[in-house]
Amino acid sequence: MLDIMKLGEEVLREKCTPVTEFDDGLRILIQAMYETMEEADGIGLAAPQVGVDKRFFVVGLPDGTKKEFINPQITGTSVETSPYEEGCLSLPNVYHEVIRPSKVIVSAQDMNGNPFTLKASGLMARVIQHEYDHLDGVLFIDHLSEEEKSKVVRAYEKKNRRNRHR
Ligand code: NI
Repeated sequence: MLDIMKLGEEVLREKCTPVTEFDDGLRILIQAMYETMEEADGIGLAAPQVGVDKRFFVVGLPDGTKKEFINPQITGTSVETSPYEEGCLSLPNVYHEVIRPSKVIVSAQDMNGNPFTLKASGLMARVIQHEYDHLDGVLFIDHLSEEEKSKVVRAYEKKNRRNRHR
């Protein structure tokens, strides 16, 4: 299991750099990220959330879809947007509605370096955009108004106080 970085850790605010080596080290790390995400009941996990400032993330949806996105680029977004109650393993136990494009087109590489392009909608489109943000040091709370953001941060600090002092 990997440790998941929480709000306040600097690595969550860094702009990550591209992956250049598609080696066994990367594949082992990605496997560990899938396991860590599943153990934490998450549907996505980005490298900076496990302390690695590289551009990749993994997704695991309730329908069983599992996919890693390495050096992803979002090349298209729909004009149509939709709301969704987002959460994040780096801010456990708090959620807030975020409005984002309903569909995206993403190009990326898999863990062997093979390129692919995916047209995503629904939950997949949502998770891709949330995880992609992590690679640029952006968290879902950054999409909220200052007032909403501080409300969510206060709720997060209150709810996680007990864990922090354990
Ligand atoms: Ni997140």
